[in-house]
Amino acid sequence: MQHEPLEQPAQRLDHHSLGNPHQIRVTHVKLNLVVDFDNEQLHGTATLRVKRQLGCPAGAPLILDTKNLTIQSVWTRRKYSRKRLANFTLGQTDAILGTPLVVPMVEGSDEVIIAYQTTAGADALQWMPAAENKPKSLFTQGEAILTRTWVPLQDSPSVRITYEAQVTTPSGVIALMSAQHRPSSNKNVFRFKMPYCIPPYLMSLAVGNFAFRKLGRRTGVYADPSIVDSAAWEFAQAEEMIEAAEKLYGPYRWGRWDILVLPASFPFGGMENPLLTFVTPTLIAGDRSLVNVIAHELAHSWSGNLVTNATWSDFWLNEGFTRYVEDRLQEALFGVERAHMETALGVESLLELMQRLPASDQILHINLEGRDADDGCTLVPYEKGSMFLRTLENAVGRKKLDIFIHQYFDHFAFQSITTAQFEEYLQEHLLKLNPQAAAQVNVHAWIHDPGLGQPHLEVKSSQLEAVETEAKIWDNREKPLTAINTQQWSTHEWLRFLRSMPTLQQERMAELDATFHFTEQTNAEILFQWLVMSVRSDYEPAFDRLKSFLGSVGRRKFIAPLYRELTKAPNGMARAQELFKQSRGVYHSTLIQSVQKLLANPSAPTTD
Ligand code: BES
Ligand code: ZN
Repeated sequence: MQHEPLEQPAQRLDHHSLGNPHQIRVTHVKLNLVVDFDNEQLHGTATLRVKRQLGCPAGAPLILDTKNLTIQSVWTRRKYSRKRLANFTLGQTDAILGTPLVVPMVEGSDEVIIAYQTTAGADALQWMPAAENKPKSLFTQGEAILTRTWVPLQDSPSVRITYEAQVTTPSGVIALMSAQHRPSSNKNVFRFKMPYCIPPYLMSLAVGNFAFRKLGRRTGVYADPSIVDSAAWEFAQAEEMIEAAEKLYGPYRWGRWDILVLPASFPFGGMENPLLTFVTPTLIAGDRSLVNVIAHELAHSWSGNLVTNATWSDFWLNEGFTRYVEDRLQEALFGVERAHMETALGVESLLELMQRLPASDQILHINLEGRDADDGCTLVPYEKGSMFLRTLENAVGRKKLDIFIHQYFDHFAFQSITTAQFEEYLQEHLLKLNPQAAAQVNVHAWIHDPGLGQPHLEVKSSQLEAVETEAKIWDNREKPLTAINTQQWSTHEWLRFLRSMPTLQQERMAELDATFHFTEQTNAEILFQWLVMSVRSDYEPAFDRLKSFLGSVGRRKFIAPLYRELTKAPNGMARAQELFKQSRGVYHSTLIQSVQKLLANPSAPTTD
């Protein structure tokens, strides 16, 4: 069940870890943590099992990643023998990477026990205050390099670990982890086991008052009791999605798949924590129109969690494949028209972004040396990555590409791989076998050059084109809004309708609002688009809504672009600063950092 990577690199591979897995590698983590809501702190021990690598110099210490952790004591021991206090040291702190923890290793010791506690600088953790009918709660976000702020380990996606955990909570809440649940005799103690080896960014914990609804044979949803039924309705197709994915790429290997709906502060649409996907409540639109995010996170069970990017420069292997599979699942569940609409909207956003992105950030295999791993998280790995796969599909045919991807997942299952390993595998198992088709695709340029370099597939959606025509006709004042038949429009059509508008006069905004009530919109995607337009047009009637949205939702994809739009408006900077001051308490550290960056330098090229 557990696969060791075939070969270990002799050198440090990952610029975003200070650890030394090429010498001594962490293989298993055992956590024993207490959740202290009063002090907003986790404290306890992490017991690491380690393995010396071939050629490791005698006397080499173990080096771990930590960031803003307080380390109390460290012991080492040979399994089953007595532990010995170790004379650990903390190395120099790097602002992005954190502080290496250096543990001298007595010959033969294969276990390290670390007593530690988290601090207010634990960027992975978001402590939520109590609210009406809600006790205090907590969730973690590990990707990309935040796990080191709550667990001392080698925080590189090239290092795969299994883990087990015991989490003690106050009464009235439950703990959930991205792992199997284990029985416990104490109602305040929760026990977990992750028997499959995973990269550390996939370790996750949530503590709160979560109710559960079963969805299917191996699926269910956890959410605040007040929304758990609507969540269960929204995500009812989870089981069907797994079946569709299995048909394409082979068995789901993780056993269960549950979905956890977090508070609106959660900084992402979804996060693919294994066995337990974390999602934003803004997916609950009431019409299942945003479940592509669910399909996306499920797809990561193959691309990302099973076959993982070895470094953050290979992030496109995670997200490009996942974005591609997401559309394939949408197609399987909802038909080709809906899949095309989503593909087309993605391509449109990418093309828009490419115009303002520096060339070096347009490359799939991006160089992130000296930069935050998060800087690579743009639409490029997602949309250009999936566009590349669609181009391959078009060249070799869908059937052959499906077989290839299925084999690729099997071959590298439970391993972390680099772009070079992917390229070699692609060459051997697809391109060489299909030389004529291969000659049509400049694979090297797709992966290593900026831009789209070469003709890419056009994705046409006749439905979206029809909507665009309607928008143009209205914009040219050739037809009133009431003449447009919007009865059958889905979220995608509304998004295209709004996105195809130029910056409008205030009275034209008012006309749209009076007819379609955008300011009262509850679908977060449509509302977001409307608020962007409202800032651009200085449309005052939407400002209260803007303020409440910024003050209650923490999803980075919505919130960062809204602040950016604000900074572009005349006198907008002061307003953006003021709104940020009022709202930042709601935000997770990753969002706070993105907003701070853009407020400090609004004219810098942006990545989202
Ligand atoms: N793994 C990502 C989220 C992520 C990326 C977290 C990089 C931290 C660093 C997740 O799978 C994702 O891509 N979420 C998207 C949704 C998707 C449909 C594009 C999101 O949150 O919007
Ligand atoms: Zn993703």
